[in-house]
Amino acid sequence: MELLRTLSPLFTVQRLPVRCAQLRLNSSQKRRDEFRGHVSSGPDFKDFIRGLPHTQRTAEEHLAETHEYLGEELHVGTSRKVYFETYGCQMNVSDTQIAWSILQKKGYQRTASVNEADVVLLVTCSIREKAEQTIWNRLQQLTAMKKKRVKSHTPMKIGILGCMAERLKTELLEREKLVDVLAGPDAYRDLPRLLAVAEGGQQASNVLLSLEETYADVMPVHHAPRGNSAFISIMRGCDNMCSYCIVPFTRGRERSRPVSSIMEEVRVLSDQGVKEVTLLGQNVNSYRDTSEENFCGSSPTKLSRGFRTVYQSKRGGLRFSDLLDRVSRINPDMRIRFTSPHPKDFPDEVLHLIADRGNICKQIHLPAQSGSNRVLQAMRRGYTREAYLDLVKNIKQIIPDVSLSSDFISGFCGESEDDHQQTLSLIRAVGFNVGFLFAYSMRKKTHAFHRLSDDVPSEVKRRRLAECIDVFREEALRVNAALVGSRQLVLVEGESKRSAKDLCGRTDGNMKVIFPKEDVGAQPGGSSTAPIGAGDYVLVQISSASSQSLRGRALAHSRLRDAVRQCDTLNGLTPGDPVTPGTAMTGNS
Ligand code: 5AD
Ligand code: SF4
Repeated sequence: MELLRTLSPLFTVQRLPVRCAQLRLNSSQKRRDEFRGHVSSGPDFKDFIRGLPHTQRTAEEHLAETHEYLGEELHVGTSRKVYFETYGCQMNVSDTQIAWSILQKKGYQRTASVNEADVVLLVTCSIREKAEQTIWNRLQQLTAMKKKRVKSHTPMKIGILGCMAERLKTELLEREKLVDVLAGPDAYRDLPRLLAVAEGGQQASNVLLSLEETYADVMPVHHAPRGNSAFISIMRGCDNMCSYCIVPFTRGRERSRPVSSIMEEVRVLSDQGVKEVTLLGQNVNSYRDTSEENFCGSSPTKLSRGFRTVYQSKRGGLRFSDLLDRVSRINPDMRIRFTSPHPKDFPDEVLHLIADRGNICKQIHLPAQSGSNRVLQAMRRGYTREAYLDLVKNIKQIIPDVSLSSDFISGFCGESEDDHQQTLSLIRAVGFNVGFLFAYSMRKKTHAFHRLSDDVPSEVKRRRLAECIDVFREEALRVNAALVGSRQLVLVEGESKRSAKDLCGRTDGNMKVIFPKEDVGAQPGGSSTAPIGAGDYVLVQISSASSQSLRGRALAHSRLRDAVRQCDTLNGLTPGDPVTPGTAMTGNS
């Protein structure tokens, strides 16, 4: 928070050309970061007082130990086995891949068994109290394991990575004495050094946030269990400061990875046969690459109509629509998804691009959080219920077959019964097919923590949440039922978890589809047949729907580049025809 406060004036230098402001920021920030790096890893006054017993030092003082004396050559893994456990959002999945890529280069090995591990790293989430409680419980188990291990063989090192490390900082080391390493979301490059310090028997921590770190040059090791789809981090941090949210404090300011590095990663994945990439960021559609001179005009960022930001409009840079355009041209048979967007960053050009480009999935996550203007204002979301519903209307007009999903929070500070009813009515009005619903969990440091009162009793929060879930299910069922009889292009993920006789895959709208495993036409209308495997695109005739998935029968293999036409033609529509709710054949709305 302090870092964010001190640096914020630098972001509001308006009269300088943006590129120039950026350069100044880069060099001065770099110097500052370097300086802070030295300060945090170098010796301090107490290091010159010989004999000060370690027990008298706080964890922070331990960390100020002179780790500079550990040369680079000692930051190696020497085949030590590292075990990762990832909690929370998809960004953490991507961060795990980055952290692993860094450690792998230093000679660490990865293990899938915690029992074999020399180093256990938990990639953590702080968004709600419950997420943190899960980590605390896991730490108890791991520390018990570690104690047992000390007696038998090599000591196990435990590291906390990501948001919880950032939020709790050294409090974690002090409370949980057996945690050896803390690395915040911008400190993964420092992991080899931190682990080397830990190997020497001391606790080590780096929770510095950066204005620049995007890990652009770290090619993540994609380790997805289903190897046909991959997550690609394109930006980090969030500047929105929604009043309930800890993310701006744990992940820092927004910064975007240069487009060239993203394109390179997508090309590599495409060459490896990956069929679907999901572009990731805390506020993915506010992507703004200022890394090249020619990207930096002075045009202000365009927002969705009727939406505002809490910060001054940012100028120049290559925008999300430019990135989507470039990425989607790499391979027309590769699906492009993105998450998690903010509703404010959907100017028409993004929507038209999604509508026009066959391989950009017609699926938009549109976190609403509440249906009440009073609550939206208290949440500092920057829009009204009316603006949100207008945006939905605009999206459905431009992308008629769009699938919409959302996030909602029940029981935010001051939420009345009437506010809650307005949320239920908004859920009904839109017709989402997937929802992520949460009870409000107060987080320290946030605006709501300082200024608002968490005054909705927990049983009321739970009851309202259950009501939201019920309405969501009803609506999702209605939206999904409209797909019965349609033909959907499904990207096959593999065998269904429930039965080896069935396969499972996803529609363009990201709905799960289950269908029998049987050979089908090698192409639509062809006579030869071929088995279906993970990574194949198949046309599936939908026969039934629940609120969470669809069932059907595969008809033929297909290709993404052919499928838009095939689905529309097969469903008796002319490509581009508007589809009205309830009669949708190719989409969910
Ligand atoms: N309490 C409950 N839910 C929260 N979210 C973010 N912060 C909180 C909080 N303090 C939810 C929002 C967000 C999603 C990722 O998590 O709905 O969109
Ligand atoms: Fe949190 Fe709001 Fe940023 Fe999303 S947009 S990460 S809810 S502050």
